[in-house]
Amino acid sequence: MEKQKYYITTPIYYPSGNMHIGHTYTTVAADAMTRFKKLTGYDAYFLTGTDEHGQKIERKAAEKGVSPKAYVDEIVANTKDLWKLMNIEYDDFIRTTDERHEKVVQKIFRKLYEQGDIYKASYEGQYCTPCEAFWTPSQLVEKDGVKVCPDCGRPTELVTEESYFFRMSKYQDWLIDYIETHPDFIQPASRANEMINNFLKPGLQDLCVSRTSFTWGVPVDFDPKHVVYVWIDALSNYISALGYDSDNDELMQKYWPANVHLVGKEIVRFHTIYWPIMLHALGLPLPKQVFAHGWLLFGNDKMSKSKGNVQYAQPIVARYGCDALRYYLLREMPFGADGNYTNEAFLTRMNADLANDLGNLVSRTVAMIEKYFGGVLPAWTDAVDPEVDTPLHDHCKALPALVEAQMDKLQYSQALAEIWKVIGECNKYIDLTQPWVLGKDESKKDRLANVMLTLAECVRFVAVLIYPFMPTTPERIFAQLGVNDEALKTWESLGEYGKLPAGTKVQKGEALFPRIDIKKELEALNPAEEKQPEPKKEKKQEKKEQKKEEKPEELPEGLISIDMFDKIQLRVARILTAEKVKGSDKLLHFSVKLTDNEPVRSVVSGIAKFYTPEEMVGKQVVLVSNLKPAKLRGIPSEGMILCASDAEDKVLKLCTVEPGMEDGAYIR
Ligand code: ME8
Repeated sequence: MEKQKYYITTPIYYPSGNMHIGHTYTTVAADAMTRFKKLTGYDAYFLTGTDEHGQKIERKAAEKGVSPKAYVDEIVANTKDLWKLMNIEYDDFIRTTDERHEKVVQKIFRKLYEQGDIYKASYEGQYCTPCEAFWTPSQLVEKDGVKVCPDCGRPTELVTEESYFFRMSKYQDWLIDYIETHPDFIQPASRANEMINNFLKPGLQDLCVSRTSFTWGVPVDFDPKHVVYVWIDALSNYISALGYDSDNDELMQKYWPANVHLVGKEIVRFHTIYWPIMLHALGLPLPKQVFAHGWLLFGNDKMSKSKGNVQYAQPIVARYGCDALRYYLLREMPFGADGNYTNEAFLTRMNADLANDLGNLVSRTVAMIEKYFGGVLPAWTDAVDPEVDTPLHDHCKALPALVEAQMDKLQYSQALAEIWKVIGECNKYIDLTQPWVLGKDESKKDRLANVMLTLAECVRFVAVLIYPFMPTTPERIFAQLGVNDEALKTWESLGEYGKLPAGTKVQKGEALFPRIDIKKELEALNPAEEKQPEPKKEKKQEKKEQKKEEKPEELPEGLISIDMFDKIQLRVARILTAEKVKGSDKLLHFSVKLTDNEPVRSVVSGIAKFYTPEEMVGKQVVLVSNLKPAKLRGIPSEGMILCASDAEDKVLKLCTVEPGMEDGAYIR
């Protein structure tokens, strides 16, 4: 029977600098999924690569005094080394400077132009010459009546540039309908609402798709003064790598449409609006899913090269191996949500999950088989204790399906949690069965045999199942368990419980993940750890605690202290849904979102006379987020939305923040 196909991609990363742990995160996730699909019998294909054109790279190369190509070549080589270090097994690595890619981009551009989807027009806007960038009115900063560049602060000028534009607006209604009728297309689903409410319903702008102000890009072949600008070039990689519109499009026939594009949440818009429209215009089917994962934060801030708060994978892998880091990245936060990276959290998880839970289970199992059976697995006997054995046997048998169900939803963390539940149960099983007591009594040998076999078989299941996440650990476990038969390492072999044959010789080995002294490791790992900003909330807490010790300040009437103000938590919240409260002409009931990690809140607000529910959806508001919850007309209200109003309450306007702030941000 022909295998089912599975095509997965990561974004192609900008090689403006070396890849950090954020890029590693997506790539590890794609690799784990590919390995899982291959393990479970799919013909899986995994594409990653680099997005090498554009002004930023052109400038970086000039700063270094090398050509853009020489600049990116070095970073691409480092990237490939990093993926090797992380045990990433991609099937192809596409570079936007590959000739195969550039040719396809030119063909796509020409085709879209010839069929009228791309047109040439003049673009007028405020331009910063030193930065070579156009800025929209909301991005510009006003200084002494002059519109200055938000980046460098220098004055901008009104400039007209000739560009090609993609007629996005033409496809807007089609795309809204597509997203609404394909609920799996954008995941997590909250992102689909965001795209529809924030970008599609308000109306799509035509997209600028060429530039004349720099040359490091794919030239438009029928108008070489222009280079193709960013997204047509970058997004096409997903099909150019498969040979779309080339002499050999075998892979395209085989693997397109992709099953999933993994992307960070900041580029979900490009992948769920521009990319589907491009594909539709080209007459191609859409990827089955775009999954937007969250960010690895560093002290509540997105890691980024420009902020200088990045963590790299190499020093961690050098000390603890790549499986420990892969495990942490996939386990620590649900795929889709943000999470803080700290070395301390990593080391804590390493000790708890890897050294204690998994490592101990393997070493105890092997040590006991050595001690009680001379290192040779006995045969199953009829000395069973159904009350203790059956739940574990059943759980272990059910485990592959439980893991698969989570992986089908890209819930890596949950898949691992399922495996670790069985590991935990095994450790409990040892406590319950007390092999050290059974071992003292020759008449209990049969019972002891079953206990050992149960543990060894569970460990075998675990070893097979952790392979996609931690590809080198299973072989180390199999070596200790004495499993040499490849047929016992497969997914299929998990279809039957109890396959480990009697006579298998176990072999004690080194601890899989030795327990570590976290304090010492923190010092050794990273002097930069000291520089690591602590999550802001904790900092605030600390500050408050220090202040508590001090004598309360005497305050002039009507004034509050900074401490009192500090107690009020103001945060940026996004309105997800809004409706009128029945029987009230004043109240609206909202569901609002802070970060992805926090539960959606219910908030009731008295603004129905000034805003309709429809116009509220998608807006960012300022929420007093630590107000004691109350009930209004029986509906819970967990926060207060701030507004400005005139003295007579006749005019009321929402308080909000300028565009570009992420949901959940603290206002201080
Ligand atoms: O956006 N947490 O490239 P890029 C989690 N070239 N993931 C992170 C992360 C973080 N802190 N930082 C980076 C581009 N990533 C374009 C893409 S695709 C056709 C073009 C990951 O180098 C995440 O996958 O800025 C994010 O979307 C990507 O790297 C951005 O990489």
